[in-house]
Amino acid sequence: MKILGIETSCDETAAAVVEDGVSILSNVVVSQIDIFAEYGGVIPEVAARSHLEATMPVIDKALRDASCDWDDIDAIAVTHAPGLLGSLLIGTLTARTLAILHNKPLYAVHHLKSHVYANWLTDGSGLGLPKFPLLALVISGGHTQILYMPAHNQFEIIGTTRDDAVGECFDKVAKILGLPYPGGPSISKAAAAYGATGQNKKLSPGDAGKYQFPHPKVEGLDFSFSGLKTAVLRAVQKEVGVPISYPSHELARLLTPQQVVDFAASFQKTAVDILVEKLEAASRQYRDIKSIVVAGGVSANEVLRGALPGAYFPAPALSGDNGAMVAAAAYFEIQSGVRPTDPYKLNIYPRVSIEN
Ligand code: KG4
Ligand code: ZN
Repeated sequence: MKILGIETSCDETAAAVVEDGVSILSNVVVSQIDIFAEYGGVIPEVAARSHLEATMPVIDKALRDASCDWDDIDAIAVTHAPGLLGSLLIGTLTARTLAILHNKPLYAVHHLKSHVYANWLTDGSGLGLPKFPLLALVISGGHTQILYMPAHNQFEIIGTTRDDAVGECFDKVAKILGLPYPGGPSISKAAAAYGATGQNKKLSPGDAGKYQFPHPKVEGLDFSFSGLKTAVLRAVQKEVGVPISYPSHELARLLTPQQVVDFAASFQKTAVDILVEKLEAASRQYRDIKSIVVAGGVSANEVLRGALPGAYFPAPALSGDNGAMVAAAAYFEIQSGVRPTDPYKLNIYPRVSIEN
């Protein structure tokens, strides 16, 4: 079964063709990162306009790359929740129109569910597919959750962030350190002392033990990341010798390059330690689990990958937003008995939970 997956929930316009939920026949991702690096973050209006221009060419390329025409496609899947309203609208309206035009069943997929299913897209790692019951750590720019999955398409949220998402925390700390958006990759590069042109010979790789940040005291399996962002801010202010009223956006120019590298490494280590700690607590609590999967943009992080050697991670290129994971999620929904949605009625839900 060949499914065309369409993803436009944030700032990537993406489409892919996936066979039987696991084999990628094509995967096209057009990122708007270059646009938003200039602004230091996503501007929803601009994102929606860019999707409008890119969506059809991206879908056409996904079909061409997979050597498919419409007759070969068995179903269309699209992200309809959660995400930016305008961005979600472009993808879902396109998918609805195409489903009606080409008479294809249409499936609406939750964005976090699709991130989890990136772990079913085979990457030749030889690990095989994840086994149930499992725990999924979903870490993105908007979410930080631990999910218990007894079987395909069944999700129970057992831990969630009470404030910022971990990806958001990377993005905010990057701003404090004067590093470009998105913060995750730029903090990782800075921590390893990689500049725009590779390893910076004048700098040592970041000392992750140089600055100590407290772990939040949150009971159970919930997270909190807003305190960590503030702790980094206070530590930077202290390091450069200015009062806590000093504006955060002016701090970066007072830091030496080596201080930036050390702050990046120390912050990254703390964020990773917090995630690993909670995931370990969850696996002590849910003793029947057979696999742990990690998903979402932050799952690209190399330090986190190194800290969880037994866990499943998507291929790095599939950690961020893409259409292949949407098609994979839809395939396993269909296997679980989910019926297609009405293309004349499909709605978008910018804020809905994965449990609904
Ligand atoms: O899943 P995603 O692409 O979009 C959302 O659904 O939000 O996640 C984006 C988030 C951003 O906050 C970005 O800074 C973070 O993922 N990210 C990383 C890395 N690559 C992307 N965080 C840490 N380390 C990385 N290597
Ligand atoms: Zn995402």
